[in-house]
Amino acid sequence: MVDLIIAGGHAVIGDEVVQADIAVDAGRIVAVGALTGLPGARKVIDAEGLHVLPGAIDCHVHFRDPGSTYKENWRTGSSAAAAGGVTTVMDMPNTDPPTANPEALARKRERAAALSLVDWGLYGVLDSSSLPHLEALAGEGIAGFKCFMTENTGDLESPDDGVVYEGLERLARLGVRCSVHAENAAIMQHRRRQFIEAGRTDARAHEESRPEVCEIEAIGRVTALAQAARASVHIAHVSSAGGVQAIRHALAQGVDMTAETCPHYLLFGLPEIDSLSGMVRVNPPIRGGAHADALWAALLDGTIGMIATDHAPHTEEEKRNPDIWQCCRGMIGLETQMPVMLTESQRGRMSLPEYVRWSALAPARAWGLYPRKGHIGVGADADFAIVDMDGAYRIDQSALHSLNRISPWHGRFVTARPVHTLVRGNVVMWDRRVVGEPGWGRGIAPDWGRRSHG
Ligand code: DOR
Ligand code: ZN
Repeated sequence: MVDLIIAGGHAVIGDEVVQADIAVDAGRIVAVGALTGLPGARKVIDAEGLHVLPGAIDCHVHFRDPGSTYKENWRTGSSAAAAGGVTTVMDMPNTDPPTANPEALARKRERAAALSLVDWGLYGVLDSSSLPHLEALAGEGIAGFKCFMTENTGDLESPDDGVVYEGLERLARLGVRCSVHAENAAIMQHRRRQFIEAGRTDARAHEESRPEVCEIEAIGRVTALAQAARASVHIAHVSSAGGVQAIRHALAQGVDMTAETCPHYLLFGLPEIDSLSGMVRVNPPIRGGAHADALWAALLDGTIGMIATDHAPHTEEEKRNPDIWQCCRGMIGLETQMPVMLTESQRGRMSLPEYVRWSALAPARAWGLYPRKGHIGVGADADFAIVDMDGAYRIDQSALHSLNRISPWHGRFVTARPVHTLVRGNVVMWDRRVVGEPGWGRGIAPDWGRRSHG
C-alpha cells in the first residue's frame, strides 16, 4: 500500500511521452509503470487524458519578502507558483535587507518556511557587503549566489571587477554557482542620460538605451573572470543574439557555465513594446525579432539550457506611467510560463521532453538538485504539474495569484495549462484551485557535488 497513485496520464519521462502510472510514497516516486504491477494506494488521482510533467523549477523569482511586501510576499508568490505548475522557486537576494549575511538569510528563511506553498531556495548576493560572509552563507545552505553587474530593483551595489573576481575565486573553492545579471552599466547609463536630456520618454527609448553590446561585453567579461577563477557561473535572462554568441564563445573556451532565457524574450518584441509600453519594461530589455529567433535556436541546440521567469512583481501604478523612465522594471511570469510555453510546444516549436528539459531537468542539474528533483523517476520527489493539453483559454490577469496581477500576458490565447500541482506528493493546486498550505514548502538542499551543465 502506497500513499498515492497517479493513474493513466501521459508522463514525460526522459525523452519520451508514455502512458504510465506513478506510485508515490512518503513524498517520493516509488514506482513508474503499468498499474497492474503497482501496489495499492490510499489515494488515486485519475490523470486519464492529462499529461504528467515534472513540476517546473524556476531558478529566477523575486518575491520581495522581506522588505517590499506591497509588491509580493512568500504566500502570494508561492501561490502563483502552485497555480503555474511550478514546484520549486529560487528567490533573488535584492530584498530589504539584501541577502548579504547570515542574519538576513535567516530572516528570509523564516518568511519562506512559514509562508511558502512550494519548495524554495534562496540566493545570496555577491557584492562588497557580502564578501566577508560568503563562506558563512554557503555553510547555511544557500542555493546559489547572484551578482548584479548593473542597476536593479532595490538599488543593490553593482560590484567592481575586483570584488567580482575575488568573489568568484572564493565561490569556486566553495563549489557554489553564481548567477549573473550581465549588462554593462556604464554604456546604458551614458545613453540613458543622453535620451533624457533629449526629452525622450517613449517606450522604445528604454530598449535603445541598452544595446546588445551591453550584454555581449558583460557576458564576455564575467566569463573571462569565471574562467580565470575556475568558478561556475549562470547567465540570467539572456536577451540578445549577441549574448548567445558570447555564451557559445565562452562554452568553447571550457567555462563552466549555464544560462537561462525567459518567455518574454522569446515571445515579445517591438509590437509589444509599442502596445504595452511600461508593462514590458524590463532589464535587460525585450528586443524581439532576430534576437528572439536566436534565443529559440540557442534553447534548441542547448547553448541556453533552461527557461526561468524573472518573476518581478510591481504595482499597477509602478508599471503604468507615460514616462518610460518612471516605470519599474520587470513583470510577473510564474503563473503564465507553463501555459504560454506549452502552447508553443503544441505549435510545434519544441517537443514536450524538450520543454521539460528547459523547465525542470536543466535547472535541477545546474543548481545541484538532480536527481532529487527535475525528472519523473524512482527516488525523485513527487513534484508534478498535471496538465490539460486539450483546451483553449485566454489568460485573465484577474484570476492570477500574485499580489499585483498586472500582466503583459493578459488576454493571450493559450491551448494548455496545469490543472493540478503536487509538491512532494501533496496537492497544492487541485482543479485550478490553489489548495496548498502556507509552510508546506521546504528549503532545498543543493548537492553541489553533483552539479553539471544544464
Ligand atoms: O527588470 C528587472 N527587474 N530585471 C532584473 O534583473 C531585476 C528585476 C527586479 O528585481 O525587479
Ligand atoms: Zn531578476
